[in-house]
Order: sequence, then C-alpha cells, then structure tokens
Amino acid sequence: MFQYHCLNPIASVGLDGFGDNYRQTDDFKEADAVLVRSAKMLDMELPGKLLAVGRAGAGVNNIPLDRCADQGIVVFNTPGANSNGVKELVLAGMLLASRDIVGGIEWVNSQKDNPDVGKLAEKQKKQFAGSEISGKKLGIIGLGAIGQKVANAATHLGMDVYGYDPFISVDAAWNLSRTIHHIQDVNDIYRNCDFITIHVPLTDGTRGMISREAIQMMKDGVVVLNYARDVLVDEEAMVEALNAGKVKRYMTDFANPTVAGVKNVIITPHLGASTRESEDNCAVAAVKELKNFLENGNIKNS
Ligand code: MLT
Repeated sequence: MFQYHCLNPIASVGLDGFGDNYRQTDDFKEADAVLVRSAKMLDMELPGKLLAVGRAGAGVNNIPLDRCADQGIVVFNTPGANSNGVKELVLAGMLLASRDIVGGIEWVNSQKDNPDVGKLAEKQKKQFAGSEISGKKLGIIGLGAIGQKVANAATHLGMDVYGYDPFISVDAAWNLSRTIHHIQDVNDIYRNCDFITIHVPLTDGTRGMISREAIQMMKDGVVVLNYARDVLVDEEAMVEALNAGKVKRYMTDFANPTVAGVKNVIITPHLGASTRESEDNCAVAAVKELKNFLENGNIKNS
C-alpha cells in the first residue's frame, strides 16, 4: 500500500484502494513520486529519492524536464484522458466563430425589458447571420490524442480536414488516412485552410510557431483556434491581423491582456479539460500509470 501526501489534491473520486491513507502536507522530501495538474509549477528542489513525476493531463510545461532527466526521474502524462473535453471545446469554438451566437445572446439580454423583443428579433437577426462549418477546410496542426479526435469529429460535421504532424505514429496516420488529407508542409495548412487549430505541446520548437509570417501566409478571413498553449501564438501579430480583417476570429483558451477585450477574439479561461469527466479520467489515469510504474516499471502515457 502506498502512502499519499497531498500538496494539492488531484482527485477525490475514483481512487478506490488508494484514498484512505493520504494526509495534507507541504513536505514531499520523502516522496517516491509526485503527481501534478497544470497550476502547480514544479519549480522547487526535487527530492533525491524521487522516481517519477506524473502530470494528470497533457501539457508538461510546468515540469522541469531537464532537471528530471539529469536526476534520472521518469516523467509521464495522460494525454488521452482529457482529450474528449478539449475536442468538444474546440468544436464549440468553431461553431462560435462561425455563428454570431455570442452577439445574438448579448442583444437579447440588452432587450430584457422590451415586451416586443420577439418581434424586434425577427428584424434584428440579419446582423447576426453567420456561416456553416460544413464544407469548410479545417487545418489541424498536431495529430496527437486531441488532434485526432478533432479530425474525426470535424469530418463527421462535413468539414474537409487537413492534418500536419511530423511525429505522428504509423498506426495513427493509417487510421486517419481514410478521413483526412495528410500535409507534409505546414505552410500548406496556413495557405489553404479556412479554420486552423493547433494541438501541439509547448516546446522550444513550437513556441511562437503561429508567428507574424505564418499569419501573413493565411487566407483572408481565416479563423485561428488555440486551445493548446498561449505562447504558441504571436498574439501581438494576431491582434494586428484581426484589426486589419485578415483574421476573422481568434478563439483562444488563454486569458492574456494582449487579446482580452479585442474585437473578434473569444476567450475562455483554460476550460478545455474542465469537465467532470476529463478531470476524473486524468486523476484516475495518472494514479494507474504511477501504480503500474512503481510496481512493474512500465509507463504507457495513456
Ligand atoms: C492539458 O494540458 O492537459 C490541458 O491543457 C488541461 C490542463 O492543463 O489541465
């Protein structure tokens, strides 16, 4: 039986057989392993006896990967466990970008004291007319757990899907090949797609990848969706492109001052994986991975 010490509890459910003997403590010097979510930056000294750091979620940018490598500490994550939650928010983002649902709701609320709101709505609705996503070209950069789910769902919604991922596994590429076009050069996504969504991890190689140059290559009226990490996008260049009408809408899950309040930006406060199902799945998957690692030495990153 393991001893659990919670710095910041990751789950209170689904831990049958694990949950009885944990206690609150700020001291993890004696830990064999630590599990984190996204808010906790592991910037403190890591215990010498630490064997593993697990991330209940996908992004590992709050974990000091170099230090873990130097100390021989295994790092794992659970990239599949919250991918459905993120996928659903991306789909909502595409629909919100295409139909002026937000503008329409705001208008109705502004008329709350008007007894003729129903009649007036029939006259006003022209200004909220949108377009459909069916038949539009969707470019997906990154075909990991989330990118693959977005690809499948978007295909079912009638979109023409283009995917770019130089690191995709052969199996995943084969499974997707029946439904999407694989693109070898990311610039082809920038040049040809009506919607572009990013699903890559934050690394030195991906930081700022949606750069001024990339944005300039995009089609006029493109919608860009960022439900991955904020610093993947040069948001100053994005605001300029929005103001110039080059980008129609920027949908982001990251509340940054550069884009907050800017016209045609719709921001959610990092809600991608904030569903009861995703949170439970991540917590349970992380504990199972850890148990498997400590008992058998195996990691699946499922
Ligand atoms: C992830 O990295 O798994 C998602 O961004 C959600 C989260 O940070 O927990």
